[in-house]
Amino acid sequence: MLAGKRILLIIGGGIAAYKALELIRRLRERGAAVTPVLTRAAGEFVTPLSVGALAGEKVYTDLFDLTDEAEMGHIQLSRVADLVLVAPATADLMAKMAQGLAGDLATTLLLATDTPVMIAPAMNVRMWDHPATQRNLATLQGDGVRVVGPASGDMACGEYGPGRLSEVPEIVAAVEAALADGPLRGRRVLVTSGPTHEPIDPVRYIANRSSGAQGSAIAGALRDLGAEVIFVTGPAEAPRPSGVQVVEVETAREMRDAVMAALPVDAGVFAAAVADWRVENAATSKMKKVAGALPTLGFAENPDILAEVSRLENGRPSLVVGFAAETDDVEAHATAKRLRKGCDWIVANDVSPATGIMGGSENAVVLISGEGSESWPRMGKREVAKRLAARIAEALRAD
Ligand code: CTP
Repeated sequence: MLAGKRILLIIGGGIAAYKALELIRRLRERGAAVTPVLTRAAGEFVTPLSVGALAGEKVYTDLFDLTDEAEMGHIQLSRVADLVLVAPATADLMAKMAQGLAGDLATTLLLATDTPVMIAPAMNVRMWDHPATQRNLATLQGDGVRVVGPASGDMACGEYGPGRLSEVPEIVAAVEAALADGPLRGRRVLVTSGPTHEPIDPVRYIANRSSGAQGSAIAGALRDLGAEVIFVTGPAEAPRPSGVQVVEVETAREMRDAVMAALPVDAGVFAAAVADWRVENAATSKMKKVAGALPTLGFAENPDILAEVSRLENGRPSLVVGFAAETDDVEAHATAKRLRKGCDWIVANDVSPATGIMGGSENAVVLISGEGSESWPRMGKREVAKRLAARIAEALRAD
């Protein structure tokens, strides 16, 4: 619930601006008060009248409105809220925010605010993929701006891909997560999850049986404790948790790049089942069957993401948690793995087929730290996630 919370909603100028109307309704339904601000371009898509009617509040539209300055100065306006939400955040608005420009009311508020800021980007696929936008995104994340979406799908401009404004319930969930009170409030945590797919040719790949269930549950549990969660996932079956920033990747190398781009974080939980090897020379066109000739695949080693992050000289998370999927001598192998990879904790589990853990709903883990090992009874993956999230909160508090 959002009772007693005030959200300063900055509506950017894009075709998705109409969804801001629904967003206002849903936020208010959850108990939040919404102070709307329209950029000049947003006023071309939605009217101050409809926005104001749904919000039940005055709509702010221009920096140089002297009446408003007399009523409430822009500095004050930027600080009345518990959260500043920019939805839709256009490429232009993101660029201005990244540069610290303050040419109108919306950008002035964003520069003057001392409250947390969240953006829900919406733009054409190519604009989203453009290196300039990606650079701005990285800058904004580095400044502590939270990001929800964008989603992938058909776009108003007729193209397909990432760039759609996240669905309203997803934005509301992210707002709730950002305002959740909990021991991890103000902490940024990275979670990797799922398998990776390593292409052999454009239609074939090497994968593993990870469903991503444990990683999704951990991300959700960390979110519930108030953390800002960046969830980097391979092509996993498990539903993505709501209220977290989801980064979809396919290969180990893409996962590594996404992880590095997400730093700095307070803690990293590496639950992904990353392929250790990739096919060295993946074919760029489909390999054809040739009678009597079997193909030979050459392999190259993938980057070890956990080891790389654990050994960072600058920007290492205060807590690095790895996973060990073993089929025998679980504790001994996992203890050695902790030292080899340089992480703080290892969550070890026995994935031999008889346990039904890989792809199943339960897990039986041993938590290994510098202080020794601790066996947890077999329990649901959600329970494991909750317990681990609570331990992470405890460790970061002591930090
Ligand atoms: N991991 C990673 N990058 C890799 C391989 C693994 O980040 N390229 C992480 C996993 O997310 C997990 C931990 O390392 O947290 C252990 O992975 P696992 O595959 O069990 O260990 P390996 O190093 O592959 O050791 P082995 O296969 O010999 O058991």
